[in-house]
Amino acid sequence: MWSATLQTVWDDLPPDERGHLDRAAWERHFRKKIEAFVEGDRTERWVAEGPSREFLGYLILGESGFLTPETNAFVYDIWVAPEFRGRGIGKALVEWASEWARSRGHRKIKLEVGEGNARARHVYEALGFRSERRYMGKPL
Ligand SMILES: CC(C)(COP(=O)(O)OP(=O)(O)OC[C@H]1O[C@@H](n2cnc3c(N)ncnc32)[C@H](O)[C@@H]1OP(=O)(O)O)[C@@H](O)C(=O)NCCC(=O)NCCS
Repeated sequence: MWSATLQTVWDDLPPDERGHLDRAAWERHFRKKIEAFVEGDRTERWVAEGPSREFLGYLILGESGFLTPETNAFVYDIWVAPEFRGRGIGKALVEWASEWARSRGHRKIKLEVGEGNARARHVYEALGFRSERRYMGKPL
């Protein structure tokens, strides 16, 4: 889970920022920041398994709330093993998370995705997620 999460975030970094980073140093820095989320202290971790208990993928789900007093469910990470992608597992994990969050009383589920991550964006949009805010950046 750790290596997949770090790889996903690394791949989603804006290329102009990634270009200045040393991968090993960045991992040491970022591990500390996300430890409570990946280790499950602040999140629920759901694993998808196949019929022979093969590891298909996972989803890390927690809460977040900044703009309003009401917290919402938040998908911190989702990952499907490359050999099992394109079979509906990603969508099933997100639908599972949405249902779980609804049953816990949440009225909304949110997530963040890199602009360049077309496959993930497709999955989310197909399930009804819509862009609400946009991070913007300009190299100086
Ligand atoms: C994003 C991810 C979880 C999706 O998992 P998955 O099991 O392949 O997803 P599904 O099979 O449910 O759906 C894939 C959809 O993407 C579509 N797709 C595949 N490649 C695509 C691309 N390059 N651009 C747009 N859509 C694409 C497929 O056609 C399919 O949509 P459809 O069912 O409407 O035809 C998986 O690709 C992954 O683990 N990626 C690396 C980690 C990652 O980026 N996580 C997201 C972090 S925000």
